[in-house]
Amino acid sequence: MRLTYIFSFILLFGAAMLVLFIHLQNPAELDQQQIPGFNIGLKTPKKDGTSSNQDGNMMEKAADKLLKINQMGSTYPLHRLPVMTSGRRQSNIRFLITDNEKKRIKMNPIRPYKQRKRFLIKKNPILIAMNSSIVSFSRLKDDGRNGSWKRLYEIQRIRKKLMQDVCSKYKKSSRIISPYHVSRIFVEDKHRLLYCEVPKVGCSNWKRVLMILNGLASSAKEIEHNTVHFGNHLKTLDDFDQKGIYHRLKTYTKMLFVREPFERLVSAFRDKLKNTNKYYHSVFGKAIISKYRRNATREALSTGTGVQFKEFIQYLLDVHKPVGMDIHWDLVSRLCSPCLIDYDFIGKFETMEEDANFLFHLIAAPHNLTFPQFKDRHSNEARTTTSIAQQYFAQLSSSERQRTYDFYYMDYLMFNYSKPFEDLY
Ligand SMILES: *[C@@H]1O[C@H](CO)[C@@H](O)[C@H](O)[C@H]1NC(C)=O
Ligand SMILES: *[C@@H]1O[C@H](CO)[C@@H](O)[C@H](O)[C@H]1NC(C)=O
Ligand SMILES: *[C@@H]1O[C@H](CO)[C@@H](O)[C@H](O)[C@H]1NC(C)=O
Ligand SMILES: *[C@@H]1O[C@H](CO)[C@@H](O)[C@H](O)[C@H]1NC(C)=O
Ligand SMILES: *[C@@H]1O[C@H](CO)[C@@H](O)[C@H](O)[C@H]1NC(C)=O
Repeated sequence: MRLTYIFSFILLFGAAMLVLFIHLQNPAELDQQQIPGFNIGLKTPKKDGTSSNQDGNMMEKAADKLLKINQMGSTYPLHRLPVMTSGRRQSNIRFLITDNEKKRIKMNPIRPYKQRKRFLIKKNPILIAMNSSIVSFSRLKDDGRNGSWKRLYEIQRIRKKLMQDVCSKYKKSSRIISPYHVSRIFVEDKHRLLYCEVPKVGCSNWKRVLMILNGLASSAKEIEHNTVHFGNHLKTLDDFDQKGIYHRLKTYTKMLFVREPFERLVSAFRDKLKNTNKYYHSVFGKAIISKYRRNATREALSTGTGVQFKEFIQYLLDVHKPVGMDIHWDLVSRLCSPCLIDYDFIGKFETMEEDANFLFHLIAAPHNLTFPQFKDRHSNEARTTTSIAQQYFAQLSSSERQRTYDFYYMDYLMFNYSKPFEDLY
């Protein structure tokens, strides 16, 4: 009798705890856990039409880009050091960075780090991904070049098919798109274009194109590198509210450009670690040298310059990285979420001009628009080519090469790049 009494009490108590537990769990978060644990900061949507150029907005935007990736236990630092070289020629363009903005940047370039917490508070899935395929042959207008458009269209079809096949084979299907997933997608409303930025794949020039299409500039020459990246003239998709995001994803042409992963990696290494770059040297260089170089000189430890490619790869492959990943060497398949966002157009760095022209045709861009060929930084240094990349990879052991290939395998597979070395499997 007494035993039954105690037993039913325990049962009741258990049921109460269960109810409490369910109540505390946000169903949105349960969903969230299915995609590799991203923490997302939901922003209050800006009112449309407000100038995104206002003082303070820029840093806020930079802070918005700081996203923490749980799964890797790593953080994205601000990928671009907002330092303005004071002696530099100012472009005569009408949307120059204001003096006020400059002051803020000079005063406190790393400030966004401290704001990170703010963006980790709440996360909500915002919409369900859906299929759309904007690019269809019926939209290709006859201009006497049908043959070449047809061929390029066919190439796009094959690239998209492969991407979808790889996604359905390897990626757990989650249909939830969160602001994080669209935070790297730039918006051009006039030609209804969405561009997912992949660093080291001509992204500065693509942003210039977007600004021209948008009527913010009449030619690429006028737009300086700093204006492109820090000017905050282009909106990203997470600047819009849920309805705005959904509408654009559904009806705009969504595109991204990819590049051979090893070449992209070498390009990032040369730009950020081999060449002078205060920010990358002090954040990544120092950490890499102190962890992977034996007998490091005091000078190397304090400046972070002179990181060797081999040391950089040791960092990249380390499961306990001393500093987090960075967008310049992260996978395209993570930066742009191609398994979630059904891109209409996949361009390749290797065929940049041809692909860009085809895209311009598809979105009915002005006829005089051509893809700019600027090399922004270290413009007198040769662009990273296949042979330059091979020279760097020759400095590694075959096991390091293999593990680096494994690291980027998803990008190799998804974008149909062939093995860069014979001995890889
Ligand atoms: C998306 O495509 C898949 C397969 O092609 C189809 O089963 C599904 O119904 C489509 N979803 C929408 C929202 O169109
Ligand atoms: C191009 O294709 C359109 C239909 O898609 C056709 O009407 C036109 O005759 C073609 N032009 C040439 C030059 O092949
Ligand atoms: C392209 O043409 C437009 C007018 O249609 C003009 O305003 C613009 O300056 C031209 N751009 C270039 C790069 O020539
Ligand atoms: C580090 O320095 C010590 C003494 O200068 C030397 O004996 C040792 O071989 C060096 N180790 C490496 C890995 O260079
Ligand atoms: C990958 O590219 C090669 C040419 O480099 C081509 O022959 C092959 O069909 C492509 N594979 C897929 C699945 O698209």
